[in-house]
Amino acid sequence: MKGVILAGGKGSRLAPLTKIFNKHLLPVGPYPMIYWSLFKLKEAGILDVMVISQAEQIPLFQKLLEGDQELGMNIVYQVQPEASGISDGLSYAKPFVEGEKFVLMLGDNVFEDSLSPFVDAFQRQESGAKVLLKEVTDPKRFGIAEIDAVHQRIVSIEEKPEHPRSSYCVTGIYFYDQEVFQYIEKISPSDRGELEITDVNNLYISNSQLTYDMLKGWWIDAGTHESLHQASTKMFETMKKKEGYE
Ligand code: DAU
Repeated sequence: MKGVILAGGKGSRLAPLTKIFNKHLLPVGPYPMIYWSLFKLKEAGILDVMVISQAEQIPLFQKLLEGDQELGMNIVYQVQPEASGISDGLSYAKPFVEGEKFVLMLGDNVFEDSLSPFVDAFQRQESGAKVLLKEVTDPKRFGIAEIDAVHQRIVSIEEKPEHPRSSYCVTGIYFYDQEVFQYIEKISPSDRGELEITDVNNLYISNSQLTYDMLKGWWIDAGTHESLHQASTKMFETMKKKEGYE
């Protein structure tokens, strides 16, 4: 399986830190943020990865990651001309993942769980897509899933709902088959002018092709000042526990 990491966008909620720096190059613990997505993919045995960002940012990622012996991954880079949404960004990965199932990660998601069990589960899933959910205390910030727990299925997903129907956030870790590229062609820009990944996931739901699992460990969308700080703290704590990091 291949991996795609989205590392573009405006990072406006992190201004002025993002006036010059791409959000995914800001520090989370001892590494620039993008490393955590790469480490998670590597741990799950996914070594072929595409990093997508805006043209002026790509050389910075190349400078950071190319020739990094510690990583030992095959990373290719792709331009998303404008930050026009997650689905728009993903559309540029089509030639890279041609004919295969793959995992899409939003580069600002930092989390504790290993991806391995979810990768294995998706390998066994015949077709469709899978999302990973996490209970949150601030559901208005995210894509929120309404769940039918009895039948273990997602009924619908609403992007940044005014009146959330649950507290289950759809995290930025998605597994897709090739159908995703046809669905992206079917959707239109939202009120915020973006091609939303939630619209694509709702198309999978309407075809009964979206499964879900729950993350067990901590999960943070590090896209705000407070959550970026929290992500660093959690990472240091986790590293100290696991590796005796001083
Ligand atoms: O973190 C989980 C949430 O991520 C989900 O619950 C939402 O459904 C999903 O829409 C997304 O919401 P955000 O508002 O947090 O998305 P954001 O604009 O922060 O972008 C998420 C990541 O994707 C971030 O790493 C930047 C990257 N990105 C974003 C856009 C809009 C791109 O690479 N290109 C883009 O055009």
